[in-house]
Amino acid sequence: MASHRLVHLFPIILLFTISTGYVMASPPAAIKAAYWPSWSKTFPPSAIDTTLFTHILYAFLVPSNVTFKFEVSDSAASLLENFTGTLHRKNPPVKTLVSFGGGGSDPKLFARMASNKGSRKIFIDSAIQVARTYGFDGMDLDWEFPKNPEEMAGLGQLFKEWRSTSPSTFNGMETTGSIQWNPSPKSLDWVNAMCFDYRGSWDTSATGAHAALYDPNSNISTSYGLTSWVRAGVPRNMVVMGLPLYGRTWQLKDPKVNGIGAPATAVGPGDDGVLIFSEVEKFNRENGATVVYDAKTVSTYSHAGTSWIGYDDSQSTTVKLEFAQAHGLRGYFFWALSYDREWEISKQASRTWVTG
Ligand SMILES: *[C@@H]1O[C@H](CO)[C@@H](O)[C@H](O)[C@H]1NC(C)=O
Ligand SMILES: *[C@@H]1O[C@H](CO)[C@@H](O)[C@H](O)[C@H]1NC(C)=O
Ligand SMILES: *[C@@H]1O[C@H](CO)[C@@H](O)[C@H](O)[C@H]1NC(C)=O
Repeated sequence: MASHRLVHLFPIILLFTISTGYVMASPPAAIKAAYWPSWSKTFPPSAIDTTLFTHILYAFLVPSNVTFKFEVSDSAASLLENFTGTLHRKNPPVKTLVSFGGGGSDPKLFARMASNKGSRKIFIDSAIQVARTYGFDGMDLDWEFPKNPEEMAGLGQLFKEWRSTSPSTFNGMETTGSIQWNPSPKSLDWVNAMCFDYRGSWDTSATGAHAALYDPNSNISTSYGLTSWVRAGVPRNMVVMGLPLYGRTWQLKDPKVNGIGAPATAVGPGDDGVLIFSEVEKFNRENGATVVYDAKTVSTYSHAGTSWIGYDDSQSTTVKLEFAQAHGLRGYFFWALSYDREWEISKQASRTWVTG
């Protein structure tokens, strides 16, 4: 997640946020969440359509890599205040979470912090103070990602201590490809699973569906990742499926060979081969691209000349959400707000996920 310039460093990312405290008569409410990129100059919190979401996450705050405390600048402080103030006053209001870390932050910082009780406490106290000072309803950790069992153990310890220190809502998040599940589900309210970035600019040899629900040829897919986490003991109703509002692009070797897995030579249009959904639509329009829905992977791709884009549109998103509901998952989140300019996919998702 985060600045797309950096996500490509992590070929397989499933990013999760687990939970607890949902022992109650009725099932827990569905999560319809989205991250707000705080660096967006053109999309202020007031522009968010809160009828479509239950939770909006502020992306991101990063602690000092020396003290592990949050040193909030004046400009960040006024943005944080504006974010929670605006969203709580909206009709309807939404819950706000502050997300710590992000794909662009240094994973070693979190590894060092989580390895030691003293630094965990400093981080936790500062995180809670920031969340309270600026009026947030909860917190979210986006550490991409713990890379070995030792770091996973640190993460588990961090969540446990964080939960026992936190007064109320708390949304932790962590990430992995193949690492064993460690953190106790009891420490978290839910897990945001980053079900995207499976393919991208780090491998230019072939085109790919970067958020495939199914992959006939490998286990790098959302269905495989999520079911393996459920098998490992993560309760289904704590898993929230991540959905990308952006595509990844390649240059085809031969314009006539243009399916998923077609030979490619380089990244295609966009910032390091990334186009947000509204740019994908613009590209398709302006270039008269051929648009194909692929039922095998549950994804959409388009091509024009040698340019090729793999992405999700309303159709593939709908099928993914049906999968998530059929499997008893808790909800979905988008990376990121404003990428579908006219709320095309966000609206479709909100309609599809019927809560009863
Ligand atoms: C902390 O961050 C600064 C700025 O990015 C970097 O120069 C420095 O090496 C980092 N220190 C550690 C201990 O990671
Ligand atoms: C947020 O900032 C906008 C633009 O500067 C301003 O119009 C609005 O009043 C602010 N809202 C809050 C709640 O601070
Ligand atoms: C996928 O994972 C299963 C185990 O869950 C394994 O048996 C199978 O070989 C894997 N398939 C591929 C293509 O890696």
